[in-house]
Amino acid sequence: MMNKVDYSEQQQQLRELAREKNAIVIAHNYQRPEIQDMADFTGDSLELSRLAADTDAEIILFCGVHFMAETAHILSPQKKVLLSDINAGCPMADMITAEDLVKMKQEYPDALVVAYVNTSAAVKAETDICCTSANAARVVSNIPAGRRIIFIPDRNLGVYVENQTGRELIKWDGFCPTHDFITLADIERTREEHPEAVLLAHPECLPEVQAVADSLESTSGMIRYARASDAREFIIATEMGLIHRLKLENPQKQFYSPTKKAICPNMKMTTLSKAIQTLREERYEIRMDEDTRKRALAAVEAMVSYT
Ligand code: 13P
Ligand code: SF4
Repeated sequence: MMNKVDYSEQQQQLRELAREKNAIVIAHNYQRPEIQDMADFTGDSLELSRLAADTDAEIILFCGVHFMAETAHILSPQKKVLLSDINAGCPMADMITAEDLVKMKQEYPDALVVAYVNTSAAVKAETDICCTSANAARVVSNIPAGRRIIFIPDRNLGVYVENQTGRELIKWDGFCPTHDFITLADIERTREEHPEAVLLAHPECLPEVQAVADSLESTSGMIRYARASDAREFIIATEMGLIHRLKLENPQKQFYSPTKKAICPNMKMTTLSKAIQTLREERYEIRMDEDTRKRALAAVEAMVSYT
């Protein structure tokens, strides 16, 4: 049997460093277990951006990917926001540039732009309203009927929103490579193996996977669902990192991933030693010019008023 790695010393080192520097450590639900266990807070994109806005800490060490740390800076410019690993990007966010969006707006000048938070600050600056997977359908349903809507960058989340709201969207053809790895065949095979299991899927999943899910949820939505449910078994169609917290919170329940491929390499870039070094040196600070930040902020704030 393989020996389990003991991370406690590094975790303690990071905790002490955070205390000395008046820093808060926040981690996305897809981070490595040892990172999640050491963080002050773990959560989905919406929870983490709210947290970043509310904290009194002087430094935010963001264990996640680039656009998340950018969103924290957009909301809290007076704080120092550090990204645990500067190379941790989001391939979906990189699928659309501000120039692409400007061209799209020229094509549909009367349309409102709704952008998933998984976008760069430059793209947010060209956006009317942001959304996360937790509030995308609510945001769109609160847009006056008849108004055309450009929805970027995730085509799968776009399909989910269309199904939930009955609105037709002008969608960008972006996608999350990690969620696209989860196929309907994977789901069918896992369901055969665990016929009693409830299927929870993220709306970044392919439409055919969405169609067979018992419930479509953000990452924290899945955590709430599993907690409240009487079911004993769940198939979790999202990045595998989420299963750590699900198991921790529900030791008597079983959680299955439909495929071993559902891993986001960017989310896994952050290790404890990198996080310690980042905080110690206060390196990888995420900033942007004030004009971009203010325009992006307007889109993030509009999200709040549309939910
Ligand atoms: P949520 O945690 O907001 O559901 O987002 C999932 C995701 O893919 C983040 O990159
Ligand atoms: Fe981006 Fe997908 Fe990774 Fe989330 S899981 S950071 S959407 S590539």
